[in-house]
Amino acid sequence: MKDIRSEFTALSQLIYGKPLVYLDNAATSQKPKSVIDAMRCFYEEHCANVHRGVHRLSELATVHFEKAREKVKNFINASSVQEIIFTKGTTDGINLVASTYGRQNICAGDEIIVSQMEHHSNIVPWQMLAQEKGAILRVAPIDDEGAFLFDAFSALLNAKTKIVAITHVSNALGTVTPLKKIIEASHACGAVVVVDGAQAVPHCAVDVTNLDCDFYAFSAHKMYGPTGTGVLYGKKKWLESMPPYQGGGDMIASVTFEKTTYAKPPAKFEAGTPNIAGVIGLGAAIDFMQRVGVQNIAFVENDLLQYASIAVEAVPGLRKIGTAKHKASVLSFVLKHVHPHDISSLLDRQGVAIRAGHLCAQPVMQRFQVPALCRASFAVYNTKEEVDVLVKALIKVSEVF
Ligand code: ALA
Repeated sequence: MKDIRSEFTALSQLIYGKPLVYLDNAATSQKPKSVIDAMRCFYEEHCANVHRGVHRLSELATVHFEKAREKVKNFINASSVQEIIFTKGTTDGINLVASTYGRQNICAGDEIIVSQMEHHSNIVPWQMLAQEKGAILRVAPIDDEGAFLFDAFSALLNAKTKIVAITHVSNALGTVTPLKKIIEASHACGAVVVVDGAQAVPHCAVDVTNLDCDFYAFSAHKMYGPTGTGVLYGKKKWLESMPPYQGGGDMIASVTFEKTTYAKPPAKFEAGTPNIAGVIGLGAAIDFMQRVGVQNIAFVENDLLQYASIAVEAVPGLRKIGTAKHKASVLSFVLKHVHPHDISSLLDRQGVAIRAGHLCAQPVMQRFQVPALCRASFAVYNTKEEVDVLVKALIKVSEVF
């Protein structure tokens, strides 16, 4: 673990004179030197636009950019690089599907299912689509532990269900959903499944072919990569039949004032100069995760989560929110009589960074009848000693109030 930590310069700094304990990884992870170096190398040595220039630097930039696409394809076991679209992030990927596949296929009276534990990014685009088309948004419930209620979900499925948009891992609760079962049941009804994988890809092996999902979106910055870059996986048959998302450079085959024809996927969905450095950084982040081993990452984080879940029970007045059996990397809680923002500010003074607020999941707050949550979230570089610092700091907070 020491070796891994030394790859992250940011982790060795002091915050208010205290060693940083970074437990806000579900918001964004820190970046290893290899990712930063790969991006710096692009800017210093082969900075040029991709797919355009007939010169050495542009060829090199294109090679590195497309190599990253190949890495992503292998990392999530897609069947072709044509199924890998580079986006700004998970939100962008989900909006892309809603605006293209959604607009093309949703009609008045159709139904779209989301779950009660979705991030706003997997609610609002569908709500907007439903409003535009006169479709209906249905919500699959969760239980008091934050577990996905599969039977209740199945009862919502019917011939009108056209899209099921579901998270793989909840950002607010850490719940891992029974995705394969959800996908099978949705397909049996003729619905396509769009997966928000933002909180899953950093923590477990994802195999889109085995899952058989139709779309799967994730972000680089939560998996040790840069901000502003993400991936949308889509089955080739859908990507080929969908209209483009945005018009502009790179997404065309030919343009006249009378008519434009479009490039094949993935170019069809990548209008404008992409985040080239970001994509190269994402490739380096995948290299980092594979070097450490995705199974090892999952093991370390699960161990930390178990340890922390027990350790926080020593904090007077603490109530854990999200105690489902299958969880990944997230420990959310509230403290009696203390607002999460105050807790977070006080922890910050001890060098401990957690997230506090509605976590971009207001329906989860409503479900658990809390105004906000505190969330500690783990990455492979965190340690049990850091959990101990968190718990000690929380005990101090509970004493102050
Ligand atoms: N979606 C990110 C989070 O859960 C920002 O914190």
